[in-house]
Amino acid sequence: MSPKEINFQELFDSKIEDDVRIEPKDWMPEAYRKTLIRQISQHAHSEVVGMLPEANWITRAPSLNRKLILLAKVQDEAGHGLYLYCAAETLGVTRASTIDDLHSGKAKYSSIFNYPTLTWADIGAIGWLVDGAAILNQVPLCRTSYGPYARAMVRVCKEESFHQRQGYELMLQLCQGSPVQKEMAQDALNRWWWPTLMMFGPKDEESSNSELSMKWRIKRFSNDELRQRFVDVSIPQIEFLGLTVPDPDLKFNEETGHYSFGEIDWDEFWDVVKGKGPCNKERLDARRDAHNEGAWVREAAMAYQEKRSLRESQKRKQA
Ligand SMILES: [Fe+2]
Ligand SMILES: [Fe+2]
Repeated sequence: MSPKEINFQELFDSKIEDDVRIEPKDWMPEAYRKTLIRQISQHAHSEVVGMLPEANWITRAPSLNRKLILLAKVQDEAGHGLYLYCAAETLGVTRASTIDDLHSGKAKYSSIFNYPTLTWADIGAIGWLVDGAAILNQVPLCRTSYGPYARAMVRVCKEESFHQRQGYELMLQLCQGSPVQKEMAQDALNRWWWPTLMMFGPKDEESSNSELSMKWRIKRFSNDELRQRFVDVSIPQIEFLGLTVPDPDLKFNEETGHYSFGEIDWDEFWDVVKGKGPCNKERLDARRDAHNEGAWVREAAMAYQEKRSLRESQKRKQA
């Protein structure tokens, strides 16, 4: 390492220490850049793939109002994906290569979206639990050390909180409805509860990327801390709905002031991560098809842009 690089490293370290944001043109260690590219693009892919299970119900929403809410939510997720692809681009990767990595299976996205949406109640459970878990993960990211990522998260979190509320409200309506509707809500909770707990990632002692991410202040809380927080906030919400938590080991621990809960099925977690979940293939096929079918839109947009630039340069010449 040359003396010049050592100074850059010191400057970077002191910014991290003082909570000064790192911006795209700042020097940053290569490993920091790579970690961010991986995390931000994985996050972008999750937003985009996450549209699929919910979009499945847009045409079958039970009322016009519910259809409007669901459409707005799914469109928000597309927007989140776009901000995040832009944030990844500031680190020197192209959007095309990032998307190629998703389609080739090289890049990952959140495993939760590899589960199917079997009933309308799943739309409620996803908004309430999945977006709720995403909020717990993402609120600390509003203070993450990389500027463009932190700023994107501020708006994303505001929208996520609308998503969470619409989901809970949908569940509440089902729980106050007929016995069959309440049963449907319970069934959705039973299916989504454990995969949602898995969203916080592997246990701290098995999370290989965590330590450096904490040091660089990309991440501020550990997987297990966030998972515990999620359980603690969700249990009173489940009780208010009058539903049962699908975990016989769940208990409130007076000493710690937290709920203790049963063991996650880590074999299932790793299976889904490795591509063997119920819908991994279906999701990737749908993304690839959408990309191919949208090629003409990208080509038309590029042709329009070229025409416009040509016209503008001709105008400048004439002036
Ligand atoms: Fe989102
Ligand atoms: Fe969301």
